[in-house]
Amino acid sequence: MSVSGATLVAGVAGCPVTHSLSPVIHNAWIAAAGLDAVYVPFNVPQDGFAAFATALRGGVIKGVNVTIPFKETALELSDLAGQLAEKAGAANLLTFPADGSIVARNTDGPGMLDAIFEQAPGYDPTAAPTVILGAGGAARGAAAALVMAGSPAVRIINRTAERAVGLARTVGGATSGFGFGDHRAALADAGLVVNATSLGLGGGAGPDIDFGSLPPAAVVMDMVYKPLETRFLAAARAAGHRTVDGLEMLIRQAAPSFEAFFGQAPPDDVDVRSLCLQALGVAP
Ligand SMILES: NC(=O)c1ccc[n+]([C@@H]2O[C@H](COP(=O)([O-])OP(=O)(O)OC[C@H]3O[C@@H](n4cnc5c(N)ncnc54)[C@H](OP(=O)(O)O)[C@@H]3O)[C@@H](O)[C@H]2O)c1
Repeated sequence: MSVSGATLVAGVAGCPVTHSLSPVIHNAWIAAAGLDAVYVPFNVPQDGFAAFATALRGGVIKGVNVTIPFKETALELSDLAGQLAEKAGAANLLTFPADGSIVARNTDGPGMLDAIFEQAPGYDPTAAPTVILGAGGAARGAAAALVMAGSPAVRIINRTAERAVGLARTVGGATSGFGFGDHRAALADAGLVVNATSLGLGGGAGPDIDFGSLPPAAVVMDMVYKPLETRFLAAARAAGHRTVDGLEMLIRQAAPSFEAFFGQAPPDDVDVRSLCLQALGVAP
């Protein structure tokens, strides 16, 4: 790869960001598309995101994906936001048009749904209530996308119950918030359970839920993808559920980001999932 003054630049901003797989995905697509472009991880200090994003107005850098802990701030800083980002109260994609504005979007939610449709064919979000575990940045996009997809009820369960209630209020519609003590009742007629907490990262224990309370046909998804096979997904599969992994969501949310940065869809002749699995140390 050679870099010049004409090279287009995009990236991912977070704290920490060093372990992000987004550069693997985007740089593989850039190479396959033959673009003069590069996708860079930006490690932004905890209190530095506003200064960082404001400095990008004008479009010297085309755009950034936004990860922990800046998704809510990203939306607040924007001049124009997509409907889903507004509903979620969080953005994972900022672009910087030449007019100096900051445009925010949320591709996490659609990425999650696309991953579920891919790995659990036939799943119908309108058929049964959804349970989302967690109320952080990732849960926001998930809850908003499921409401917009017509889920009859979205139940958000979080360690800090007030955050779940607050998120339900932000998203609106048939959304409600609870603490983990209420999880059995919430699972009883659910068609989908999504782990959007950081529990399970690095191989630790996942959310402690009673899979016996969940209908056997329910799909179980984990947004955590390190490891790919989390203890939560292994327990769900052992209980007979179809499962969806977080890596597919990561790839699916990246595709519209690539298009927003570079004005074209990612090439479909590069197996980014295999590249990510290699980076994770998992045999494809
Ligand atoms: N696959 C993908 O494309 C994708 C995209 C986005 C995020 N993710 C993953 O999703 C996870 C959440 O990300 P995020 O951005 O939402 O993070 P976040 O904003 O920091 O939220 C973390 C969530 O986890 C909960 N939590 C943390 N430690 C806990 C514990 N010990 N017990 C119970 N709950 C705990 C928090 O509950 P409290 O509110 O009580 O603190 C909160 O709901 C991360 O693992 C991230 O890597 C994956």
